Amino acid sequence: MEYKAKTGSPEKLSTDCLVIIVSEPRKLSSAAQTVDKASNGYLSGILRQGDMQGRVGQCLLLHNINGVTAKRVLLVGSGKQKDFNEAAFNKVINDMVSTLSESGAKDAHICLADAGIKNREFDWHICQAVILTNSNQYRFEQMKSKKSDRRVKLTKLSFEVVNRGQLKKADDAIQQGVAIGAGMDQARDLGNLPGNVCTPNYIAKQAKLMAKGQKNLTVKVLEEADMRKLKMGSILSVSTGSRQAAKLITLEYKGAAAKDKPVVLVGKGVTFDTGGISLKPGAAMDEMKFDMCGAASVIGTVSAVVQMQLPINVVGIIPATENMPDGLATKPGDIITSMSGQTIEILNTDAEGRLILCDALTYAEKFKPKCVIDIATLTGACLVALGKVPSAVLGNHAPLISDLIKSGQQIEDKLWELPLWDEYQEQLKSNFADIANIGGRDAGTITAACFLSRFTKSYHWAHLDIAGTAWKSGEQKGATGRPVPLLTQYILNQV
Ligand code: BES
Ligand code: MN
Ligand code: ZN
Repeated sequence: MEYKAKTGSPEKLSTDCLVIIVSEPRKLSSAAQTVDKASNGYLSGILRQGDMQGRVGQCLLLHNINGVTAKRVLLVGSGKQKDFNEAAFNKVINDMVSTLSESGAKDAHICLADAGIKNREFDWHICQAVILTNSNQYRFEQMKSKKSDRRVKLTKLSFEVVNRGQLKKADDAIQQGVAIGAGMDQARDLGNLPGNVCTPNYIAKQAKLMAKGQKNLTVKVLEEADMRKLKMGSILSVSTGSRQAAKLITLEYKGAAAKDKPVVLVGKGVTFDTGGISLKPGAAMDEMKFDMCGAASVIGTVSAVVQMQLPINVVGIIPATENMPDGLATKPGDIITSMSGQTIEILNTDAEGRLILCDALTYAEKFKPKCVIDIATLTGACLVALGKVPSAVLGNHAPLISDLIKSGQQIEDKLWELPLWDEYQEQLKSNFADIANIGGRDAGTITAACFLSRFTKSYHWAHLDIAGTAWKSGEQKGATGRPVPLLTQYILNQV
């Protein structure tokens, strides 16, 4: 899809479809009023007949209106003005795009200017509309032998901008929306690919492909032998149960001076999580192909940052491995030594995410980070606590956490903080090693973060548990691309 910002009076624009907003009860937005006048009251006549109430997402497609240049006019309802919020906007855009892509229109001009959410800038609406449109149009068909015959003609969208002075801001919003959308698509593709395709090696190859032809992005891949030299006993204790070799992938984007400390993103890349010897039950185990969505979000975010060429330094670190049961697999009770030197008693091999992250977090020190954010589908307990609405955030630096929460509110990719109080650390005591890898049934998301906190003492750190938000189950099963919007917005706020 191509996006553009455009000024000009709506009734005179030559476009396949002019989209205008009607709110409840039967109220024309200002663009709609202009069109109504130009068409001698055609729209108000239709409203009077009762064809369009203006309910949120209600669509009415009209053709060949006298006095209007556009071939079609699509009325979209936005509901009661006082109730118009982010969720309503989401529905308006989704229903609008779905209707447009079935309409036969090749291009459309969307008038949102006076139909916005209070307290949100006009350019916020444009950026969000681009992201939502992109998500609406996303399909994952790589693995189907026959592609669907869905032929969408719609390839160009323009957004109404009321005066030329706003064009620059609108163009920036489009650029951001496009970059975030592309990053989300990339994350979703990686997430949706099955475990037999999306292996650690596959992720490493995709990362290398990204760096091709980019002068300020370098990708390095450490092999198991390199990890052994670095004494990364913890990640190796997970990969030892798998025939697929683990990879430690580093993406280094240099958009600012070398002395500028980077934002470091660390993403959990378990390409399939069987639980290992502590084998998971069978139900819905297929969804454990999504256990690399943290890694995918790092790739998606770095790719958005590269696309925008932001003047900032960003490092992505991805520990990638499978978690499999095998004759050589780690067993409950085994004790291993992490890169940090701390010994870990592995009481449950299904708590593998923290085992690969801890070595990656120690490795992160070498980049002298401004801050480190890890992103992981880490605990089922996170789903129990927060469901599928926000990701959980915990960390050791209140300003970083609050910046992340604000970024999430800004871009509608929400976070909710859980407490990382010292009292919870007790639960990780081991009789035999420095630390146990599980903390019992209670507060599972928090004790997982407590575990990570033992490896993040030397820098500002936040942990995002995306177990509830990275993918959808059921009929709409698939990766969401979250939290690429949040991470990209956070980085945008740092430049
Ligand atoms: N990848 C899972 C977490 C997960 C499970 C995410 C279900 C989304 C849905 C993780 O590796 C895991 O297995 N965690 C265990 C930890 C437990 C053994 C302490 C869990 O949540 O059950
Ligand atoms: Mn697991
Ligand atoms: Zn896992």
